[in-house]
Amino acid sequence: MTETTPRLGARVMALIDDLARHTDEPGRLTRLYLSPAHRATAEAVLGLMREAGFAARIDAAGSVVGRIEGREPGLPALVLGSHIDSVVDAGRYDGPLGVAAGLVVAQEIRARGLPLPFALEVVAFGDEENVRFPTSLSTSKAWAGQYRMEWLEGRDAAGTTLREALAAFGGDPDGIPALARRPDEIAGYLEIHIEQGPALEAAAQPVGVVSGIVGLTRARCSVTGEANHAGTVPMGLRRDALAAAAEMALAVERLGEAVPGAVATVGSLTVVPGAVNVIPGRVDFSLDLRAPDDADRAGLFQAIQAECRAIAQRRLVGFSSETFMDNPAVALDPGFQAALDRAARRLGHAPLLLPSGATHDAVAMAALGASAMLFVRCRGGISHNPAESITLEDADAATRVLLGTVLDLAGLPH
Ligand code: HGY
Ligand code: MN
Ligand code: MN
Repeated sequence: MTETTPRLGARVMALIDDLARHTDEPGRLTRLYLSPAHRATAEAVLGLMREAGFAARIDAAGSVVGRIEGREPGLPALVLGSHIDSVVDAGRYDGPLGVAAGLVVAQEIRARGLPLPFALEVVAFGDEENVRFPTSLSTSKAWAGQYRMEWLEGRDAAGTTLREALAAFGGDPDGIPALARRPDEIAGYLEIHIEQGPALEAAAQPVGVVSGIVGLTRARCSVTGEANHAGTVPMGLRRDALAAAAEMALAVERLGEAVPGAVATVGSLTVVPGAVNVIPGRVDFSLDLRAPDDADRAGLFQAIQAECRAIAQRRLVGFSSETFMDNPAVALDPGFQAALDRAARRLGHAPLLLPSGATHDAVAMAALGASAMLFVRCRGGISHNPAESITLEDADAATRVLLGTVLDLAGLPH
């Protein structure tokens, strides 16, 4: 009998709303990796997992993981989940939707006492946005054995190192290498995530299967000029770091537009000293480049670097760039994609197959085994914005597709 009430979706939406209470900035949702709000959210998820009878813990890097055994103990785990860290002034669904749906599906399977041929693990990763420290999907890459210990020395805007923040959070920096999972311990990874784009809404579909995830380069750039008096230095004698950085940002936009399918963004920019009557002496800015094709992305990065160096030379300022993320484009698992597609069609949907312009923890988990993602329609395609929203019905549809996919992969009736 097909249920008509959006029972599962209602539980997912209630969990998301509950987790949304935890923010580091009253009045808006900001939950950066290892912050007090991240800790509170991790503890809330840990409590939910333990209440549901999962063997659960917060791991050395700050991820929350809960496990229920399959038909016998110690089987490889099918991992369901996403992340609970956010950007600044975020929406509440980017990340928590996948964690909540994974939790509800695992609870449903446990309640039905279904004998799965694999264990189920639900995970809430903690550093997918990489907003606070110069890292790259660090907590899921810890599982994939790709953690770079030099990330621990990276500093946030306040000068705190990741190592210091992780120790204060209650994590264990030196325990991170031991988090690496062996591929034979993992039966695969499934992540539900909002689309963060307009395609599903335009197609009037609640869910879509992700074909692949774009490659991504991120760098921290600095322009060093000369701070000086805004009133006494003639225009032709200045070494204005902000004017140079502004010309570089426009070059990033122009060069990004010239590469089909690529995007290029200067998302953050800091002016030093930042006073109304001081010619800026230094500007730090971020660079985020993405493209479906890795060679295109590498070429775009080189072109931008060359253009920035030429602008710096002409303006007699310094330019430096430190790349801290260089993720190749990732194709997702065809078998898992087909299982997601079957489960969606059984529920009467006609899921799109669509690429992801956003990166996800699935990029890291794909190194451990079959990984796939299901996108959920979001209003206006808006994300990284408090206006981000999904409907109860779509949350229910996605959760039921995930449940059906797990049962499909388990070879159980669904
Ligand atoms: O930036 C991204 O693609 C993701 O939201 N972290
Ligand atoms: Mn996300
Ligand atoms: Mn995001």
